[in-house]
Amino acid sequence: PVVYVLNGPNLNMLGLREPAIYGTDTLDDIAGMLDDRAQEIGLEIDMRQTNHEGLLVDWIQEANARGAKAVLLNAGAFTHTSIAIHDAIKAVSVPVIEVHLSNPHTRETFRHKSYVGMAAKGTIAGFGAHSYVLALDAAAKL
Ligand code: DQA
Repeated sequence: PVVYVLNGPNLNMLGLREPAIYGTDTLDDIAGMLDDRAQEIGLEIDMRQTNHEGLLVDWIQEANARGAKAVLLNAGAFTHTSIAIHDAIKAVSVPVIEVHLSNPHTRETFRHKSYVGMAAKGTIAGFGAHSYVLALDAAAKL
């Protein structure tokens, strides 16, 4: 079974981007951690990143059409703005797990609202790169 891991805007900058908040692991480092864990638990990872909102919508629909076991979604700042991504999650049956490196609730108030979280199966946030691994373990148990 395949698990899609979809990453939104500015997550290509991980490792360089505000390391005090997001840590020094790059997205490639996270992909490696996920591949290792996926092998242990018998899953396959399809990991992607885009800075474009509509592409995240396309990929959520694609994951659903492909019969993916789950989608791990870190929509970056689109988390707090995107009704289109909210609607995409609502439109599909594949479970979507919201993931964040930081804990948005401890940050600026504009990060406190999550259009992704309002539609997602659940949320894992605040554990840095390890949030992704925790989310994969959650996906495995669905
Ligand atoms: C983030 C949190 C968002 O508020 C922010 O816009 C990001 C990263 C996280 O993983 O902590 O781009 O999704």
